[in-house]
Amino acid sequence: MASPITAVWNWVDERMPTLGEEYRKHMSEYYAPKNFNFWYYFGAMSMLVLVIQIVSGIFLTMNYKPDAALAFGSVEYIMRDVPGGWLIRYIHSTGASMFFIVVYLHMFRALLYGSYKKPRELVWIFGVIIYLSLMGEAFFGYLLPWGQMSYWGAQVIVNLFSSVPFIGPDLSIWIRGDYVVSDATLNRFFALHVIAIPLVLIGLVAAHILALHDVGSNNPDGIEIKKHKDANGRPLDGIPFHPYYTVKDAAGAVIFLAVFSVILFFVPEMGGYFLEYNNFIPADPLKTPQHIAPVWYFTPYYSILRAVPPLFNSQFPGVMAMGLATLILFLLPWLDRDPVRSIRYRGGYFKTALAIFVFTFLVLGYLGTEPTNVWGQFGAWMGNADRATVAARVFTALYFAFFILMPWYTAIDKSKPVPDRVTM
Ligand code: HEM
Repeated sequence: MASPITAVWNWVDERMPTLGEEYRKHMSEYYAPKNFNFWYYFGAMSMLVLVIQIVSGIFLTMNYKPDAALAFGSVEYIMRDVPGGWLIRYIHSTGASMFFIVVYLHMFRALLYGSYKKPRELVWIFGVIIYLSLMGEAFFGYLLPWGQMSYWGAQVIVNLFSSVPFIGPDLSIWIRGDYVVSDATLNRFFALHVIAIPLVLIGLVAAHILALHDVGSNNPDGIEIKKHKDANGRPLDGIPFHPYYTVKDAAGAVIFLAVFSVILFFVPEMGGYFLEYNNFIPADPLKTPQHIAPVWYFTPYYSILRAVPPLFNSQFPGVMAMGLATLILFLLPWLDRDPVRSIRYRGGYFKTALAIFVFTFLVLGYLGTEPTNVWGQFGAWMGNADRATVAARVFTALYFAFFILMPWYTAIDKSKPVPDRVTM
C-alpha cells in the first residue's frame, strides 16, 4: 500500500507529469559540482531574502497608506499600534540591507571563480539586470515612509534626470508626475515598488536559474564537470542538488536567519546605516536637510556621481559616469580574456586588480556616506579642494581602470595549470 503522500503524488503525476519532470530536472537529477564551498550559499540565500521581502511587504501594505498626507503617520502607526507591526517593518527595512549584502557577496563569488565566462554569460546578464532592478526597487521603496530622507533623496535623484541634454527637464517631470516630488510621485512609486518591480524580479530570478540549469553550475575550481561522465551520463564530479545541496542551503538559511535576528532585535537601524535618522522626521518640502546621503548600498555610485565635476554647469558628466559604472558590469564576460576561470589558478595581475577593486568599492562606499568635506581641505596649492573629493576622483578612476584595463592584464597574466577533475 502506498503511503498517503505517495498516493497523492501519483494522482497528481498521472494528471500533470510536467511537475515531476521539472522536479527531477531542477532538483533530484540536477547534478551540481561536489566541491561547492562557502561562496555558494548566497544564491539560495538571495532567494530566501526575496521571499522574506515579499511576505513582509504584503503585511506592511495592509496598514500602509500611499498618500502624502497619511504615509508618514501610517508607518508610525505600524511601528507603535499594529500588533507585531514594528517587527514586520524592521524585517522589511533591515531585510533590504541584508538583500544587498547577500547579493554583493553572491556577485563577488562570480568574480572569484569566473562564473560569468562562457557558457554562463546569460546567467551573468540576468544577474546584472536583477541587480539594477533591485536598486530601482530599493529606491522606490525608500520614498514610501515619506520622511525627510525619503523626500530629499528622491528629489536629488529625480533631479539628476533633468541634466540629460534636450529631454532632461521634461523627463524629470514625467518621472515625478509633478514639478516637485509630491503625492503623485508617491502613488506611482508605490505602484512600482509593490507590484511592477517585484513581478519583474521574480521573472528575472526564474530566467537566471533556468539559464544556469541549462549550462550547469560553475564551481570553485572553475572547470566543467560535464567533461567526465559515467556510463549513465552523470557527471563523475557531480552530486544531485536534492538532497545534498538542499540540506547545505537549509543549514546556510539557519545561520543567515540567526545573524538576521541579531541585527533585527538589537540594531535594526544599524546606527543610521540601514534606516537614516533624518527619516524619522516627516518630509518637509520647505526644509532641505544639511547632508543628504543615500542608503549604504548606493553610496559607491553616489561617490562616483559627486566625484565627476560639472561641465558648463551641468551635472550630466557625473550622471553618465554613475550610469556607466553600473552598465559596464554587462561587459565583464567579454572584457576578461583569460580562459582560466577560478582565482585559484589565475595569475598575479588579476588577483591584484581584484583586491584593488574590492578596496576601491569599499572606499567609494564609505566616502558616499559622508559629506564631501569629511577629511578637510588641501591648502591653496591644491586650490583648497576637499580631500575627500580628490580621493573620490582617484578611486573613481581605479574603479573604471579595473574594467577598462581588464582585456590587457588578463591577456598577459601568467595562470597556473588547471586540474582535470575537481579538487576537494
Ligand atoms: C535576487 C537576486 C538573485 C538571486 C535570487 C540569485 C539566485 C541564484 C542562484 C539560486 C544561483 C545558483 C546557486 C549559486 O550558484 O549560488 C545563482 C547563480 C549565479 N548567479 Fe545569481 N541570484 C541573484 C542575483 C545575482 C546577481 C545580481 C548576479 C550578478 C550580477 C548573479 C550572478 C550569478 C552567477 C554568475 C551565477 C552562477 C554561479 C556559478 O555557477 O558559479 N546573481 N544565482
